[in-house]
Amino acid sequence: MSQATGTTLVNREILLGVSGSIAAYKAAELARLMSKDGAQVQVVMTSSATKFIAPLTFYSLTGREVYHEMFSGGPEVATAHIELARRADLVVVAPATARTIGRIACGMAEDLLSTTIIASDTPVVIAPAMNPQMYAHPGVRENLAKIASWPGYFVAPPTEGELACGEYGLGRLTEPSDLWSFCQWVLAGGKQDLAGERVLVTAGPTLEDIDPVRFLSNRSTGKMGFSLAKVAARRGAEVTLVSSIVPPTPIPGCRCVTIRSAIEMQDAVLAALPNTTTLLMAAAVADYRPAELAASKIKKQEGDMQIVLERNPDILGSLTPDPTRLTIGFAAETDHLLKNAGDKLRRKHLDMIVANDVSQIDSGFAVDTNRVILLFPDGRQKALPLMSKLDVAEAICDQIQVLRQS
Ligand code: CTP
Repeated sequence: MSQATGTTLVNREILLGVSGSIAAYKAAELARLMSKDGAQVQVVMTSSATKFIAPLTFYSLTGREVYHEMFSGGPEVATAHIELARRADLVVVAPATARTIGRIACGMAEDLLSTTIIASDTPVVIAPAMNPQMYAHPGVRENLAKIASWPGYFVAPPTEGELACGEYGLGRLTEPSDLWSFCQWVLAGGKQDLAGERVLVTAGPTLEDIDPVRFLSNRSTGKMGFSLAKVAARRGAEVTLVSSIVPPTPIPGCRCVTIRSAIEMQDAVLAALPNTTTLLMAAAVADYRPAELAASKIKKQEGDMQIVLERNPDILGSLTPDPTRLTIGFAAETDHLLKNAGDKLRRKHLDMIVANDVSQIDSGFAVDTNRVILLFPDGRQKALPLMSKLDVAEAICDQIQVLRQS
């Protein structure tokens, strides 16, 4: 799904709902980004949000009076929610607290913001922000799942990181620029069709230590896996990412497990697998590791040196097949692309393999584009043209949908 460009946003009416969280200050930056791109932004705050940030801040950024009271005494207030709902092309609630989410999930028109949302028939984006324990609470999970199942409702997942409360976990409001991209994706017709999927993505190389300062590795940078994690989470999946490389910016909706070696990756994959509905094994796993790990730095000596390598486990190849799980592998090859990829598809009992020729400059390591061929067990092949790794990720997620329905 390509994203809407700035020009399509000129004069689009956006209703930005702000509820009472410390993350309310980020909504100011979101309002600024929306206004800068030409959207008309109308802010509605809950009364607790006004304790965190002054309505004047939003007034200054949007040029519009901010609504925050259901009945503030003016002549128009009795129907303000209907007027606001009618005008909007998109409603965005950022930050959305557990309380606001609960009100929306129950259809409770308790304040101006919840009443306006219930009166609206335009797409609604809910961007949760709360403590990780609260975000993990079954009540909040159920409310969000319920909201996400309604037509026209989208959950912009939070990111993992340190929160104002000092705890670390999933619950930080997605950064304003990512949130704005998410809104543009919704306006361009994006769909959260992977809601309910629990996707496990592996990405990047493994690092096989020789001694405390040296390791064996490969040229993978993790870009393809990070794109998959980003797209799957945006489309509504719960995503766990296992990687030796920390993504350059937090991926909304994604829990990260950092590993180093193939053995550590295998442990992380096996730990997450019982809760996984789709495995996307994009990592470039080292097939060998040094047989011995030196405890201190190896000193050079006269003459050559030899390192004995022993086999790493084949993580994908040694999984017990599970017909309820979709298992998708990757084959990065420099020659005999289709034959090698087809062999791996059969040998590892995969539902699909993504073959790519990494000898090409525009589809190899460390670039933002890729050209892949999708191979299926029934012999079908689907060659995709050169495209961004994000678009390749979209195409792979489309196939998850197709495979689920077949
Ligand atoms: N893979 C794995 N464990 C390994 C090696 C690879 O799980 N030890 C996974 C990769 O993540 C990928 C698929 O298997 O999804 C194919 O990986 P690739 O390195 O292309 O193939 P190999 O099976 O290692 O075969 P070869 O290196 O001989 O090409």
